[in-house]
Amino acid sequence: MKAIGINGSPRKKWNTAILLENALKGAGVQGAKTELLHLYDFNYKGCISCFTCKKKAGKSYGKCAVKDGLTPVLKKVNEADVIILGSPIYFGSVTGEMRSFMERLFFPLMTYTDPPGSLLSRKVQTAFIYTMGATKEMAVERDFDKQIAANEMLMKRILGASETLCSYDTYQFEDYSKVYAPRFDPEKKAKVRAEVFPIDCEKAFELGTRLVRSLGRKSVKSL
Ligand SMILES: Cc1cc2nc3c(=O)[nH]c(=O)nc-3n(C[C@H](O)[C@H](O)[C@H](O)COP(=O)(O)O)c2cc1C
Repeated sequence: MKAIGINGSPRKKWNTAILLENALKGAGVQGAKTELLHLYDFNYKGCISCFTCKKKAGKSYGKCAVKDGLTPVLKKVNEADVIILGSPIYFGSVTGEMRSFMERLFFPLMTYTDPPGSLLSRKVQTAFIYTMGATKEMAVERDFDKQIAANEMLMKRILGASETLCSYDTYQFEDYSKVYAPRFDPEKKAKVRAEVFPIDCEKAFELGTRLVRSLGRKSVKSL
């Protein structure tokens, strides 16, 4: 059993990565072999609209035919039993790298049928972890929640199941006194970091645990 985490943040040790690490820790405790990949380590582009993945009887039908830095990542994701995506919210949506990754993963699996179907033939459990500077109230006010709900729907349609975890009001800078950002109250940010973020980490751990458990097979660490 393999659980894979995909970090869509350029930062490998910050909010999104920490939550993904916790989720994978939870999955690991349940016996999954875990791996965290950082999208910014790979050189790739989004879907190039070649439609090779849609060619009737083609050898790449249902698979992304583009060969670049994302190819080994997609292979690993396509072999995983638990897939946990994570991204900061950048201007109301996921990061560009996460978006490009999603296009390359989801489009080949999606069938142009009415209603749209999925070519995924195995059972997987998935989740998406979001981090953002906004509070929950601001996220709703600015419609970030709609974007997040749309992603959850897409993942359910293509991958069969998905959960969402949001971490709000994140601590963004190493030292707030060194940046010009008057809209943030450094004390309030530090308080949320100290009191709320650890709870989000626990939620991420539980999420990882739940995803493996709901696959219904507690298996050995070997893959
Ligand atoms: C380019 C950029 C755009 C951002 N846009 C938003 C935004 O629209 N809404 C928001 O709530 N936070 C926004 N943020 C803040 C990040 O989402 C937040 O700090 C996040 O937790 C960073 O994740 P990380 O610590 O894993 O890198 C933005 C940050 C950057 C660098």
